[in-house]
Amino acid sequence: MFGKPISHKATQFTESVIREMTRLALQHGAINLSQGFPDFAAPEVLKKAAADAIFADVNQYAITWGAKKFRDAIAEKTKRCLGIDVDPEREITVCCGSTEGMIDVLLAVINPGDEVIVFEPFYENYAPDAILSDARPRHVPLRAPDWSFDRDQLRATFNEKTKAIIVCNPNNPTGKVFTRDEMEFIASLCREFDALCFTDEIYEHILYPREDADIEHISMAQIEGMRERTVVVNSMSKTYSVTGWRVGYCISPPEITGAIRKVHDFLTVGAAAPLQAAGAYALSLPAEYYDRLQADYRVRRDMLLPVLEDAGFKTFSPDGAYYIMTDVSAFGFANDVEFTRHLIREIGVACVPGSSFYSNPADGAQQVRFCFCKKDETLMLAAERLAKLLSK
Ligand SMILES: Cc1ncc(COP(=O)(O)O)c(C=O)c1O
Repeated sequence: MFGKPISHKATQFTESVIREMTRLALQHGAINLSQGFPDFAAPEVLKKAAADAIFADVNQYAITWGAKKFRDAIAEKTKRCLGIDVDPEREITVCCGSTEGMIDVLLAVINPGDEVIVFEPFYENYAPDAILSDARPRHVPLRAPDWSFDRDQLRATFNEKTKAIIVCNPNNPTGKVFTRDEMEFIASLCREFDALCFTDEIYEHILYPREDADIEHISMAQIEGMRERTVVVNSMSKTYSVTGWRVGYCISPPEITGAIRKVHDFLTVGAAAPLQAAGAYALSLPAEYYDRLQADYRVRRDMLLPVLEDAGFKTFSPDGAYYIMTDVSAFGFANDVEFTRHLIREIGVACVPGSSFYSNPADGAQQVRFCFCKKDETLMLAAERLAKLLSK
């Protein structure tokens, strides 16, 4: 038997809690409101575009940093939606989902000891990403109920070792959408401390505007002086309901793009060629597609929120993305993992324990997250089951 230790890095993080909950849900026949993937069909036109590409024999490696047509489509869409000019030859790297994009960027930019600021709760991948890339994460809390951050605390966390800050906007798991004022404040610190900003914008089109607040997607790359300091990480997964396609992209200043492309090339060579061809079609869909996506998600959110409230959860209504963070302290469980196991086994609904979004698990010990990227039937069935929670 092999007796030497495995990589120290690999021992420092656990298997994904979110994907573990998906497996547990399957095992117990629970409705899976944990991992954020749609259970409804992907758009017919995209499936056809992908099938057409396969039959047209777009079946070999694309250019490692992305098929030209797809990069051109990314540049066009970025101009259309964000008003930013992007050079597809020097500023875009197509990768296998934004998951690969974020780790590519970190591996391309970080040296051991460099600090990366991460708001918490955070999307769980950022923690192993930091370990694998030798980044030292520095956490700054987003505080419920509005998930705002303390500006003095953020400023005090920046220092000369700060290489970058990761901003997930719209935010998973909180549903926060950063305001222009917040983005400008973060930008001013990046400029002052010569730091980069890595923005995860995969929920850019999933927003819930309301009358009493300006809910709009602002990319850090749109903020004055930040275009040359920002790497936008994006993906087809959520906007086009194709999480299994694994097609994402990074938009980065040319000085950084070369390093990102090299890391990407030797990690994966490239994203699936026929799906990049379908991606070029997807990114040229008209505005109505995004309006519809947003309207449909609003209906789902507005259905699940009262269900959770009636079942005894304290909810934090999201302004963006497709998750609802909740406080479960009223149920009297020792912690979020115990509560989640109970919910899966006894009630038949799976969620994600809040501790998986925090560096200190105790901070999320009375929170769980539900996703609502599901069919009406799925959400209705979950509602029926959740109604039994108070009586169990
Ligand atoms: C904030 C965030 N970033 C990245 C990902 C992964 O996206 P992709 O499928 O593009 O790798 C997810 C998936 O849930 C996410 O919520």
